[in-house]
Amino acid sequence: MRKKLVAGNWKMHGSRKMADGLVREIVEGLEDGVDVLVIPPMVYLADLVHKYGDRGLGFGAQTISEHPEQGAFTGEISGSMVRDVGAKWTLVGHSERRQYYHETDALLSRKFRTACDAGLTPIYCVGETQEEHEAGKAEEVIGRQLGAVIDVYGVEAFRTGVIAYEPVWAIGTGLTATPDKVQKIHAFIRSQVAKKDVNISLLTRVLYGGSVKPANAADLFAQPDVDGGLIGGAALVASDFLEICAAA
Ligand code: G3P
Repeated sequence: MRKKLVAGNWKMHGSRKMADGLVREIVEGLEDGVDVLVIPPMVYLADLVHKYGDRGLGFGAQTISEHPEQGAFTGEISGSMVRDVGAKWTLVGHSERRQYYHETDALLSRKFRTACDAGLTPIYCVGETQEEHEAGKAEEVIGRQLGAVIDVYGVEAFRTGVIAYEPVWAIGTGLTATPDKVQKIHAFIRSQVAKKDVNISLLTRVLYGGSVKPANAADLFAQPDVDGGLIGGAALVASDFLEICAAA
């Protein structure tokens, strides 16, 4: 039985004050039975883990450097640094990183490996664009994105690692894929892991992201292959985020 996981990706939102207030409200409202993570902007991570890291809430980074070692890489933050401040998770390959920062499958497979080597649990994001969706290429695209990690790094990392399906056309648009369509893609994702190792595929948590809200969370999370959510906009409002966690 896979435990549900709900992760709030704040993207580039917030301030020191807002971050503290939002996390305080979240820890006060947390319920047992579901894993909950907050993924704030990197500059707020250390403070938040220091203050709230022992309150049952996990913390993660939105991205890490591909470079495993310290070095002359201006602006980069390594997986070990994220781990050093007490965070245990990182997103890898969010579609905004793929789209705006040109992160390729090859780069993301290196980042994925760096995350694992640093002791972080990666949440590997996959999903098709609107154009790919309309062309009926969702499975082809997702298969390629998964292959970039599984074929290069091996499937073992998904024993604990997480996959997030985020159709790009549903992110921040208010459009959500219907629960049955989400289930179909999640089952496909699990089948890709199962091709390499059936036992691991039963352990891998597959999250859905893209306009998840209190109103649609329960229906999405009721699907057999949906193991929780990666939440954007609704993660910035404590009451909405907590309702989504409760739905899980
Ligand atoms: O990573 C979360 C995400 O991209 C979904 O964003 O605002 O549609 O919930 P949103």
